[in-house]
Amino acid sequence: MTDAWSGRASAYRDSPTHASDADLDVVVEMCNPHGGVKVLDVATGGGHVARRLREEGAEVVTADPAPGMQADVVCSAEDLPFADGSFDVVVTRIAPHHFSDIGKAIGEMARISNRVVVVEDTQYTSEEVEAAEKLRDPTHVRNYSAEEWHELLESASLEIERVETFTKTHDLDAWLARTECTGEDARRVRELLAPHTSEDGATWQDTKLILKARKSQK
Ligand SMILES: C[S@@+](CC[C@H](N)C(=O)[O-])C[C@H]1O[C@@H](n2cnc3c(N)ncnc32)[C@H](O)[C@@H]1O
Repeated sequence: MTDAWSGRASAYRDSPTHASDADLDVVVEMCNPHGGVKVLDVATGGGHVARRLREEGAEVVTADPAPGMQADVVCSAEDLPFADGSFDVVVTRIAPHHFSDIGKAIGEMARISNRVVVVEDTQYTSEEVEAAEKLRDPTHVRNYSAEEWHELLESASLEIERVETFTKTHDLDAWLARTECTGEDARRVRELLAPHTSEDGATWQDTKLILKARKSQK
């Protein structure tokens, strides 16, 4: 992976759709944080999940491959340098669509959790939205459908316990600016997202899937 992310660190730390929103509250609740709970936040980015979990007393380690994100451990989700079952909860929020090998990454998350895995990501909508996402951010790999998420988690011997969806509204200018998408590319992205854009063209909406899964006892 080229390090496209380090230069974006402050943009993602300051992003209001990452720093707060009801989806973050649901992710925190699913992690059930309290004193003594050990959590790994994979692809921590601006560190918003980790901050909220620490406020609740959890012991949190952050991981991210981009040095600029200043995680505790610099590593990719596909290769987590931790022993089997070393965390009670392994969480990742709005990041799996960047993972180059999603099956390997979910397998790694399941391997190092001794109890729970929590995942939030953008739900697949259409090939037009995928094209817009890739043009806006070349590090975008793919969004997955709810069915694909069920398969991914179940293939890693995880049992899905709870699924929530959340509609996220993005300020289009700020969303494009975060990845420095301008000019003809930005114009084409707006065109591709038109079916999901507000009448005044100021915002667009996607759906986030939030899943809580437990290590299978079988
Ligand atoms: C949108 S940010 C994550 C947002 C953050 N989790 C939050 O809740 O605000 C996406 C992050 O994924 C990281 N990333 C990209 N490819 C990755 C990979 N293969 N494994 C783990 N993290 C990756 C990037 O470095 C970036 O920090």
